[in-house]
This record gives sequence, C-alpha cells and structure tokens, in this order.
Amino acid sequence: CSAELGDYRHFMLKEIFEQPQSVTGTLENRLAGDHVLPALLGVPDALERLAQVEEIQILACGTSYHAGLVGRYWIEANTDIPCNVEVASEYRYRRQPPRKNMLFVTISQSGETADTLAALEKIKENHGALATLTICNVAESSLTRESDMALMTMAGPEIGVASTKAFTTQLVALQLLMVLLMQAKGADKAKVAQMVADLRKLPALIEQALDLNPKIETLAERFIEKNHALFLGRGELYPIAMEGALKLKEISYIHAEAYPAGELKHGPLALVDSEMPIVTVAPNTALLEKLKSNLEEVRSRGGELYVFADRDAHIVAADNLHVLEMPHVPEMLAPIVYTIPLQLLSYHVAVLKGTDVDKPRNLAKSVTVE
Ligand code: AGP
Repeated sequence: CSAELGDYRHFMLKEIFEQPQSVTGTLENRLAGDHVLPALLGVPDALERLAQVEEIQILACGTSYHAGLVGRYWIEANTDIPCNVEVASEYRYRRQPPRKNMLFVTISQSGETADTLAALEKIKENHGALATLTICNVAESSLTRESDMALMTMAGPEIGVASTKAFTTQLVALQLLMVLLMQAKGADKAKVAQMVADLRKLPALIEQALDLNPKIETLAERFIEKNHALFLGRGELYPIAMEGALKLKEISYIHAEAYPAGELKHGPLALVDSEMPIVTVAPNTALLEKLKSNLEEVRSRGGELYVFADRDAHIVAADNLHVLEMPHVPEMLAPIVYTIPLQLLSYHVAVLKGTDVDKPRNLAKSVTVE
C-alpha cells in the first residue's frame, strides 16, 4: 500500500481497490482461532479494562464519525453497553453530565484532527473517562500519543482527500473492538467464534463488490447532469448512506443528502421527482421489508431508484428501479461491503464531471485547525 500511483489514474481509485489488502492487514495477527487477541490494544490488561466498561462515548469528525455511527449499532446489538456517538466539534463545547465507567473512543485517520484532539483533551482534564482509546491510522500521531490505548487501522498512507480505505479499516477495527468487548463481558463463545469466522471472509467479499466497477462506471453517467441526490439506508446501513452522500458531495460537488428510509414521509418525500436520483443500500437484513415499502413510496412519486441489493432481497428491477446485485454478506459485515459501490459511484461521477478527484476544492486532507 505505497504512496505511488502506479497504473491508477487517481489515488482515490487506487485506494478503493486496495481495500482487500488494507482490511487483511487490519485483521492480520489479531485473530486467533475463534477469538480476537486482546493484545491488539497495546496494553497488557486490555480485557480487564474492557470488563469494567459501563458505557461508551465515540467522538470523531466527517467520515470517521460515520464509522462511529455504525459502531454504535454493532456494539449495542451485541453487548449491553450503551454507546453514544457525536461529532467532536459539538461535543467539545457542551457540558456533559458525569458518566460512570465510560470508555472514550476517538476515531481518526490522521490522528491530528483538531476538534477530535480537543475533545480528548477535555475529557482527560475532567477525568471523565475510565480509559481512552483511539482507532487511528497513524502510529506517531497526537491521538495515539495522548490516548491510553490505540487500535491501529492498517490502511497504509491515504493520499486522496476523500477517505476510502481508512473508513473501511475503521469499521473493521470497530468490529474487533466489539468482539473484544463481548469477550470481556463473557459473551457466548459460539457467537464470538462465528463473528471471527465471518471477519475472515471479508477481504473476498470486498473483492466481489469491486467487480461491480464496470457497471457502476456506466451508472455514473446518469448522475452527471443532476443537481441533487438522495441516499437511503436503514439500521446500520443508514450511516453508510450518509457516507455515500458525503463522498458524492466532496468530490463531484453534487448536493446529496442521506435519510434513514423510514423518515422519508416526514418531509423529504416532497423533494422526489424524476430529477432526483435515489441511491439505496438494501442488504438482506431484518428491516428489508420495511425498506421495500419505503422504496415503493419513492417510486410511485416518479423518483429514479438505484438499489444495491442482495439477490436474496428479491428486489426486482422495473421502470425507474435499477437493481445492482451485491454478494451475499453476513448481516454484521454488510456496512463494510456496501460502502464499496458507493465509493465507486462518487469516484466515476467526479471523473465524468472533470473535478480534481484527489484534491477537491476547499478541502484539506487533515483538518488540524479549528
Ligand atoms: C472524508 O472523506 C473527509 N475528507 C473528512 O470528512 C475526514 O474524514 C475528517 O476530516 C476526519 O479526519 P480524520 O479521520 O483524519 O480525523
């Protein structure tokens, strides 16, 4: 995963295609048989510390914040630990009531984001956390230095301003943290073993999602004349819709919004007409039937739907309804695999529009000032 462009036209595309390797690297030496190795947190008593955790606060910005939002769904689905997620720029300026045995988790590619660092400093000054942990991609960064524990993502250098492989490796790190919390809290061993087995399948599933690239390149043509787009998801796929919308905004300059699909009828449905492309991520999860009826609401108003779906979801293409078939994915890993086509979509739209993909206007790779 070097900083050379090689045969790729842009770093962003190279980094999208590097994801099977960066995910493999983030899992490497961290799984043993049927469990996750606690040593990955870099302290000798990691499990003992995690066993005491009664709540979790995740802080991050931008794409890293979206990873945190997925993390909350995962942690709360599999442990009894309540988990909050907030953007660091808000958290740092508001009063928080004292918390009990809180694990304070920051997520950051660079480890230098000013707001995230300030939030960490604040919690340390107030002695407000049982322990601080950072999920970070840069070993010698301020966040890793200032935190009690560090869970490194092994994405390698990310050059494109739009975060891609850093995001999916953050999600992998959150999976590892979730499984460690389960181990620390004495969760069912068979359940832990199943999760570890599923994680091992991840690089191959990402490869399969990358195979959609030519189809997505064609699909991108339908977006270049548009001024707006909606992204829909439900449950832990809602933050993935948010990430898809952020990617499109950042590099193609098309205004995009993400909604949890159940919220459509409370307002955004008014925006839907034939000029509004609607991108949906629809793996075969518990909320699928609800999502399908949300899609019908959109279609009956003339919206043009692009749905990334599992074959088993039985979403059939029709007028105004385009289906892109995704590999069958274990439910817990769907957010990671469904991120890939949304990255590719924003990339190809930006290339067709002729924007500066790796260095979009007005943005910096790392926001080290407030
Ligand atoms: C993502 O594509 C962005 N460029 C941006 O939102 C980024 O994720 C954010 O600034 C946080 O950066 P960090 O992960 O280095 O803290």
